[in-house]
Amino acid sequence: MEAEATSAKPDEIKPDETRQAAQAALKTPFAPWRDPAAVPYLRIRNVVKRFGAVTAVDNISLDIHAREFFALLGPSGCGKTTLLRMLAGFDTPDAGSIELDGVDIADIPPYERPVNMMFQSYALFPHMTVEKNISFGLEQERMPKPERQARVEEMLALAKLEQLAKRRPDQLSGGQRQRVALARALAKRPKLMLLDEPLGALDKKLREETQFELVNIQERLGLTFVIVTHDQEEAMTVSSRLAVMDHGQIAQVGTPQEVYEAPQTRFVADFIGDVNLLEGAIAEIGAQGVETGVEGGGLGGVVVTSPDAPAQIRASRIPDHVAAQGVGAAIEVALRPEKLLIEKHDPDAAAMENSAVGVVEDIAYLGDMSIYRVRLPSGRVMKASRTNRQRTLAQTITWEDEVRLSWDAGAVVIVAG
Ligand SMILES: Nc1ncnc2c1ncn2[C@@H]1O[C@H](COP(=O)(O)OP(=O)(O)O)[C@@H](O)[C@H]1O
Ligand SMILES: [Mg+2]
Repeated sequence: MEAEATSAKPDEIKPDETRQAAQAALKTPFAPWRDPAAVPYLRIRNVVKRFGAVTAVDNISLDIHAREFFALLGPSGCGKTTLLRMLAGFDTPDAGSIELDGVDIADIPPYERPVNMMFQSYALFPHMTVEKNISFGLEQERMPKPERQARVEEMLALAKLEQLAKRRPDQLSGGQRQRVALARALAKRPKLMLLDEPLGALDKKLREETQFELVNIQERLGLTFVIVTHDQEEAMTVSSRLAVMDHGQIAQVGTPQEVYEAPQTRFVADFIGDVNLLEGAIAEIGAQGVETGVEGGGLGGVVVTSPDAPAQIRASRIPDHVAAQGVGAAIEVALRPEKLLIEKHDPDAAAMENSAVGVVEDIAYLGDMSIYRVRLPSGRVMKASRTNRQRTLAQTITWEDEVRLSWDAGAVVIVAG
C-alpha cells in the first residue's frame, strides 16, 4: 500500500485490545456455528425472490452469527446481489423470512435497519473532501458535532486516511477511494455490514492487500460482515465461513477449508480452486475414515473404478449422501493439483492403486511453483502442481515426458456424479 497508508500499524492503535483479542482467539477459536446453543444473529429462512420468470433467489435458508465474516460466493447471476439487497431492505422477499437479532425485519424500512450496504459501484460525492464524504451521513442523522468529529477521526484512522482527509475523490487512487467508501459505510456503525464486490475495481495486488485490511477492520470493530464475491480466492481469504451459490440456491456452506477439502458437489469442487475431476463408479464401500493402504493395516475406505486410472482408486471416506447411492453409482473423483505427485513413469512398473499415467503436454512456470498439464490415454487432461523449492533435487520433467501421477487415499474427494 502507499507510504502514508502504512504509517499506522494495528498494534499502534489499540495495543492492549488487539493483543487480548489475539490471545483469546488462540485459546478458543472463533466458531459459534459449531456451538448448538449459539443463537444466530441473522436467520434467513426459505427466502424466495422472483423477477418475472427468473427465480433469482430460490428457497435459501442460512444462519450467520454475530462477528462472522461471511462470504456469498458464486458465478455472476447466481443471486448474490439479490440476497444482499433483501437483507438491506431494498428488495422484499416473495416468500420466507429474515430475522436480525431475533426480530423479523420484513416491515422495517432500510434506513431503520442496523444494516449498511456498500454497493458494487460505490459513488463518492465528487465535490466533497474525504472527511466530508465520511461525515455526510452522520450530519443527515443529526449527530452532534463533537461526536461526529470524533467518529470521523476514528474512521479516518481505521481506514488509514488521516493524511488524505482534505483531498477530493479525484485526487485519490482507486484503492484510496475504496477505503473512503468503506469508512463512509462504517461511520454509522451498522451492526451488519453488507459489501457487494467491494474490491472489484482494484487491481490484483491492491485487492489482496485490501482483503487483509478488511478483515482487520472487521475484527477490530467486532461487526458482522457479509461480503459478496465471485472470486473464490477472495472468499477464502476473508471469510470465517462461506456459502457457495448456484442458480439461486446454496450448494454448500462451510469454512473455507471444509469447502475446499470436502466439496459436496461437482459444482462446488469445480468452483473452489483448481480441481481435476475423474469419472468413476463405486465398486466397494468399506470402513470410513481409516488410514487406508498403510502396511499391516486393514484396507478400508471406498474403492472406485475409473476409465482414467489403470488400477483402482481408493478413498479414505465418502460423503453420506453419495454413499447412500450405493455400489455401482456413478460418481466423480475430485483431486486437487497440489495433492498429485508427479514422477517420470517407469514402463516396467506394475499398475499402481491411486495413480494415472500420461504425457506432459504443457508446463506453466509460475515462479514459486510449476503446473504440469498431463494428458491421460483417455484424453482427459490432469493438472499437477509442484513447488519449485528443491530445484537441484527434483528430477527434471519436461514436455512429452511420460509421467505417473499418484496420490494418497486421504486426498481423494468423492462427489456425486
Ligand atoms: N431488478 C431485476 N429485474 C429483473 N431481473 C433481475 C433483477 N435483478 C436481478 N435479476 C436477475 O436475477 C438473477 C440474479 O441476479 P443477481 O442477484 O444480480 O446475481 P449476482 O449478484 O450473483 O450476479 C439474474 O438472472 C438477474 O438477471
Ligand atoms: Mg451482483
